[in-house]
Amino acid sequence: MCGIVGYIGKRQAYPILIKGLKRLEYRGYDSAGVALINEGCDLNVYKAKGKVSDLEEYVGDKDISGVVGIAHTRWATHGEPCQVNAHPHYSSSGNLALIHNGIIENYATLKAKLQAKGYLFKSSTDTEVLVQLIEYIQTNKNLELLEAVKIALRSVIGAYAIAVLDKRMPGQIIAARKSSPLVVGVGEGEFFLASDASPIVEFTDKVVYLDDEEVAVLNPAEELKVVNLHNVGVNPEVKTIDLELSQLEKGGYPHFMLKEIFEQPDCLNDCMRGRVNVEANHVVLSAVIDHKERLLAARRFIIVACGTSWHAGLIGKHVIENFCRIPVEVEYASEFRYRNPVIDERDVVIAVSQSGETADTLAAVEMAKKKGAFIYGICNAVGSSIPRNTHTGSYIHVGPEIGVASTKAFTGQVTVLTMLALCLAKEKQTIDEAAYLQLVEELSRVPDKMKQVLEMNGRIAELSRIFTYAHNFLYLGRGYNYPVALEGALKLKEISYIHAEGYPAAEMKHGPIALIDAEMPVVVIATQNGMYEKILSNIQEIKARKGKVIAIVTEGDQVISKLADDVIELPGTLECLEPLITTIPLQMLAYHIAVCKGKDVDQPRNLAKSVTVE
Ligand code: M6R
Repeated sequence: MCGIVGYIGKRQAYPILIKGLKRLEYRGYDSAGVALINEGCDLNVYKAKGKVSDLEEYVGDKDISGVVGIAHTRWATHGEPCQVNAHPHYSSSGNLALIHNGIIENYATLKAKLQAKGYLFKSSTDTEVLVQLIEYIQTNKNLELLEAVKIALRSVIGAYAIAVLDKRMPGQIIAARKSSPLVVGVGEGEFFLASDASPIVEFTDKVVYLDDEEVAVLNPAEELKVVNLHNVGVNPEVKTIDLELSQLEKGGYPHFMLKEIFEQPDCLNDCMRGRVNVEANHVVLSAVIDHKERLLAARRFIIVACGTSWHAGLIGKHVIENFCRIPVEVEYASEFRYRNPVIDERDVVIAVSQSGETADTLAAVEMAKKKGAFIYGICNAVGSSIPRNTHTGSYIHVGPEIGVASTKAFTGQVTVLTMLALCLAKEKQTIDEAAYLQLVEELSRVPDKMKQVLEMNGRIAELSRIFTYAHNFLYLGRGYNYPVALEGALKLKEISYIHAEGYPAAEMKHGPIALIDAEMPVVVIATQNGMYEKILSNIQEIKARKGKVIAIVTEGDQVISKLADDVIELPGTLECLEPLITTIPLQMLAYHIAVCKGKDVDQPRNLAKSVTVE
């Protein structure tokens, strides 16, 4: 989604803003722009459709001087992606420039009122309405920018993170947020602003996360000032971020996605560090220690999530129900939040989200909280909105995920859900000691087994070439591997734009089998587990109709290997841990097919990394 960067201090702002925008490219966008106040107090705005590099080209040798500026990457909501709709937007007088992430839901009403007062609009955006509204209030009531911004935001319905410049007050940036993230970086005599910490980390590790309805005044001559919309002063809590610059770079890989696929063994070790202790034969999660009674008293768990995180939730349901005997429902956050679900203080809601900012998941959390449920967050982005709005939770600790297609976050989420199941099962005594010990031990071996799978990258790259021209793909799995089939299909469609569907293998004969012919590649997860014989029959059914089977099997498999057209052999593990292994070749397959097709793997069309609008 849209990205915000701001700078005010002693350095030239433009290079910092452009670098920041590039760091935010992973979020997905279709146009970019920058506003700078130069020494003569001119407010220069430059915008371009396309990438940040298109903006740089457009800027050329125009005046980019100035020690204060704001910049934006836009992911179109209101109005097509084009230069006019790109941010920043000027106010009518040209005194103000504003950038905005989120959606102003009542923009049409506000716009009509402003039009009635003679305001003209150049763009189709909700953002331009906001900057005009601020200017209208400022002029009419003869107020300073800060006051006008607060009044304007009190009349706004919707979500926003904004930054505003006023050329008559070049020594400050005003920033505010509601339901859309905004971070202030605190340097020596300078401030940075961004939608996440990635553009800031190079300059300072001191940050302030703004809360909903807070407005910040960034003036390098003063301390950071934060007030809420109702004029109550807030003491900004400066936090130290633990983020290395190298985590935000490709480190020699051609794409972030491939880097992140390969990081998974290390990520899982980080995720389990201090939690899975093989010597002492136990798994601990501090959230379970702190809230044991509340969690064990739950009549059911409801997992809310979107996309890949929802797939991880499906695996979480299997593992928690299997070992803890607690009923678990898995809900799309976007459906759950709008259907008045039966939920009360006896329920525990588990919100799973890589970014911690997904608007629907956040809204589901708020709604469940109001109904009295206890909320447990499983997130990656430290300090993001979901962890800040839950009662407790566990970070997955896999480091920043930049590729739009989620990979390491998925395996991190599955690992945390598995650890949660193990902790609770032990407390509830619903797992016998031998099974528990075996699971703890095997979980700790998963990173090494993942490394073995990653060694097949070259082979999978070769295999991918054959399928580059396929128009459809089917992914089949059963039990723990059914969500992996869904995830494999999602990965392929996201980055290669090939239509793909995931199905529980046995459901194939209830419809999708009609699609199978010699042109249809079918990826079947057919590992040696309790479902093996059943999956074998499903493969026979596909072969009888001349479908092309790519089978994901356990090493040493003699039967399916002879039946399938292509086979990827994986190290064996316990059935409930298989998704952590079987998902890796599907990530690699999707990646290589997309690369063969020449697609933009890290920034696929129309997609955003962090979906902060509903
Ligand atoms: O940040 P979240 O985990 O809440 O994001 C949820 C989905 O938007 C996300 O998983 C999306 O489906 C990914 N692009 C999948 O690769």
